[in-house]
Amino acid sequence: MKKITKVIVAASALLMVASVAFAGGSQQKSKVDVGIVLPTKDEPRWVQDETRFLDALKGQANVELLFSQGDSGKEKQNVETLLTKGIKVLIICPQDGAAAAAAAEAAKKEGVTVISYDRLITNTTAVDYYVTFDSVSVGKAQAQYLVNNLEAGKMGNPLYIYAGAASDNNAFLFFQGAWEVLQPKIADGTFVIKNSSEAIALQSKKNLERTEMGKIIGQITTNWDFNDAKKKAADNLTAATAKDKGRVYILAPNDGTARSIADEFAKDKDVTKYFITGQDAEIPSIQYIIDGKQSMTVFKDVRTLVRDAVKMATDVLAGKTPVTTGSYNNNKKDVPAKQTEVITVEQKNVKAALIDSGYYPASNFTGLK
Ligand code: BGC
Repeated sequence: MKKITKVIVAASALLMVASVAFAGGSQQKSKVDVGIVLPTKDEPRWVQDETRFLDALKGQANVELLFSQGDSGKEKQNVETLLTKGIKVLIICPQDGAAAAAAAEAAKKEGVTVISYDRLITNTTAVDYYVTFDSVSVGKAQAQYLVNNLEAGKMGNPLYIYAGAASDNNAFLFFQGAWEVLQPKIADGTFVIKNSSEAIALQSKKNLERTEMGKIIGQITTNWDFNDAKKKAADNLTAATAKDKGRVYILAPNDGTARSIADEFAKDKDVTKYFITGQDAEIPSIQYIIDGKQSMTVFKDVRTLVRDAVKMATDVLAGKTPVTTGSYNNNKKDVPAKQTEVITVEQKNVKAALIDSGYYPASNFTGLK
């Protein structure tokens, strides 16, 4: 298989000039079989995905991986570049789920199989498959952690909530999962939301419509941006009084935003203790957990997600139908999906979950017990 691919690559290189004459032509043999497009190199999460992809794909197919740097225009360009190289499968994690529909459609037009990776591309039928973590469970795990750390019988616990970017379908799934667990404890007065009038207005409702979640997310969004998260936390703390502080609970959507938000809460003299969630098991957040600066993270084993995406791609290249385990509706179709479970990591299991399991070397961290 590998040898044949190499021969084809060499032949197509020779024929390149001639092939240009048939521009866009399916006659042109493939130089790159699988194109991968990831949202940004600026977050450790996606650099981790890059590393794991390059490991997993060694020798399996001709692959090219490009980053969109938080820009849907660049993402579309990346897809077009990969199309000119003759890709047969596109694995894409969209910067903005709805905006990426145009890129998916361009790929589909060339007969390319489109695999949405981690984040779902919405509002188009041009997505063939979806590989994802169980994102609703991520939100549930975050909220459950906060609930588990309540003091027995104590009511009125201050709760600060933050969300991801509204352009990312996952931000809704994470919030939905968290809300399912938190809402009963908000409705009965155990938690009191301190930073969202929209969430307070909906606090008696357990199952929120997407538009209702949209209103809350619009108010508490971090845009997945560390600086936005920091500013929002600082503004919330300025607006809050000393009695809104003390022992506080913070729903932070991921590790990058958790570190920024935690730094702000740690600086506030009226905050005596804080519990803050995260996700991704990013190296800097694992250090924060070891140091007691972040309370938990949700570990999403990127090796599994990558393995599933690569298996799907190689199945497609081999003319086989990939295995899926369910589906996700993207507002235009039920996209066949393969889903992976997640694990809660806190100080007490950080070593077992991430070091002893071989995910990270111990030498990445200091103070590990
Ligand atoms: C991913 C998270 C990530 C976030 C920000 C989400 O779609 O599922 O793992 O932290 O985007 O990049």
